Parts: sequence; C-alpha cells; structure tokens
Amino acid sequence: MADPSPERRAVIGTELARAGRDDVAILDDLEAVLAAGVDGVVLATPPWVTPDLAVRAAQAGIAVLAEKPVAPSIEDADRYRVLDADQRARIQIGLTYRHDPALDKLRTLIKDGALGRPLLVRASIYDEPADGDPAHDRLITETLKHGSPVIHEGAHVFDWLTSLFGGPGEIDDAWALTTRPGLAAPNLIGGRLTYPGATVLVEFGWYTPILPGCVLIFVGDGGLATLDGGSFGLTVELAGRPLQRYEFQPDRATRCFDRQAVRFADLLAGGRAEPSLDDGIAALITSQRLQQLATSAGTNR
Ligand SMILES: NC(=O)c1ccc[n+]([C@@H]2O[C@H](COP(=O)([O-])OP(=O)(O)OC[C@H]3O[C@@H](n4cnc5c(N)ncnc54)[C@H](O)[C@@H]3O)[C@@H](O)[C@H]2O)c1
Repeated sequence: MADPSPERRAVIGTELARAGRDDVAILDDLEAVLAAGVDGVVLATPPWVTPDLAVRAAQAGIAVLAEKPVAPSIEDADRYRVLDADQRARIQIGLTYRHDPALDKLRTLIKDGALGRPLLVRASIYDEPADGDPAHDRLITETLKHGSPVIHEGAHVFDWLTSLFGGPGEIDDAWALTTRPGLAAPNLIGGRLTYPGATVLVEFGWYTPILPGCVLIFVGDGGLATLDGGSFGLTVELAGRPLQRYEFQPDRATRCFDRQAVRFADLLAGGRAEPSLDDGIAALITSQRLQQLATSAGTNR
C-alpha cells in the first residue's frame, strides 16, 4: 500500500495491525510500488492525480484498477492518449456499481420491453451532506474545485444509463444552483437527456445539510421500476401483475466491490478490462458537457 501522506500511512499501519496483517509493505509512492515488482495496482486516488499514476503504471506493463472519474475533465483525460492499445486495454475503471445484479435485472426488463417503450427515467442522486465534520468539509470543498457533483457522480450514472439503453445520451437541457456562498462549483446540477428509447431527467446534489432521497425511477406504458439509490433494492410494478421486490445480498457496497475485484482478478489473468478506460471517458464526456451547458449562461443556468 502506498500513500505520500504520512498521516494516511499512519492510518494504514493502524488498520493493517488491527487486521493482523504484517505481510503488507507500506510505501511512499507509486514508483516504490512499481520497483517492488507487482502485477497490478488499484488507484484509489483523487481524480486530478489518477491519470498520471494510471499512465505510469500502464506504461510499466501492469494491470490497473483506477477509481472513477478517470480525470476531472476531458482535457485532463488527454493524458491517456500517450498509451498504446495494449496499455489502454490493461486499465479497468472503478465504475463499481455497474456490476450490481439489480442493473442486470433492470437491463432485462428494459430490453424485453416489460416496462414499455419509450420510458421516462428520473435519477435523483444525492450524497455528501454538509454535516459539519471538518475533514469531510475539506474533502468536499476541495473536490468541488475540480468540478460539480455531475463530474464525480455522473461517472456512475451515465455509465449505468449507457449500459441500460445500449448507447450514449444526448443532452437537451441543463441547470445548476449553488446553495452555499463560496463554493468553487455549483453543488446542485441536473439536466434532461435523450437516450435510445428514453427521456432522462437527472439531478446530482452534494453538500446541503439535509439531503433528499437518492432514487432512480423508470416508468412507461408497461409499469414502473424503482431502484433505491442507497441499497439498490429494486421494486417492479408491472400493469396487472403483483408487485415484486428484488433485494440482493450482501449490502450494495460489499457485493459490488467484491464483483469489481473478481473482474480485476480476471484482468490480471489476461482477461478484458470491464469497465474499460473508454467507458470511463464516455461517462466523463457526458458529465462535462452537461456541466458546461448548465454553467454557460450565468450561475443559475
Ligand atoms: N467507486 C466508488 O464507488 C467510489 C466511492 C468513493 C470514492 N471513489 C473514488 O475514489 C477516489 C478516492 O476517493 P476518497 O474519498 O478515498 O479520497 P481521499 O482524498 O480520502 O483519498 C485519496 C488518497 O489518495 C492519496 N494520494 C494522493 N496522491 C497520491 C499519489 N500520488 N500516490 C498515492 N496516493 C496518493 C491521498 O493521500 C489520500 O490518502 C476518488 O477518485 C473517488 O471519486 C469511488
């Protein structure tokens, strides 16, 4: 494990000791990790740091699991252009929740036409409350310097939508609001998009003291599917049929990070990166375009 911050290295040391692990090296930076001769690396780093590290690791010939978003902007993602096709193919992106079985179930419902077509989708994504914790305040205000919540949360949501509807969305309209003075970017932002077979209303919100619910709904002539944004419990109500609930075990984060780790093990064994770097860049492009449209005509547009 490597981190340039002595405070973070101390935390890692404490956690490893608590887990009874005395077989993990705690290093200062990626160069030291590469020098140790590893087969792959997981980059759980801020997005403004990730592209350089991912490029260095891929150029060293090892597999990379890089956290989303792939970069804070499309311009920053240009950093990946130096990689050849083989090196790009060794980078998996941490779009963790695309691995959830609830999305597989939804994809089947949409593909089979059970919910009808076209569909209206509403995705309300709220996280990171302004809870007065100074460390969390610092993380969120720093992250907002590198883009509004759509850059960070849109990475997931636009990836889900593309995988559910089989193609990328076109942005029709966008808006943004800054509810607290002094923030580097709007903390509430949203838009309307057209996907193949769906009109999609998205809203992303961070950093209000009380957050609205986090939920995605899919409604059409066949019925309604409701995906709880926290648990990914799925409720399906089809016309004339009994309501069905799908709950998956264990909890959402554990099952998705476990599935992501299995995919990474496949990549290490020579398999395909899924989600790929191109998937991560595609989600970033939609996120940034929405942010640009939302902020192009004044602070509230
Ligand atoms: N997939 C998901 O569901 C999910 C969930 C949470 C966070 N994330 C992503 O994970 C990333 C990290 O988020 P976080 O909340 O843990 O941030 P964080 O700021 O708490 O942690 C980032 C760590 O990276 C370290 N770091 C910075 N530069 C480094 C370098 N050059 N080499 C090695 N380490 C370095 C920092 O010291 C820090 O310890 C972000 O990109 C975030 O978007 C993804």
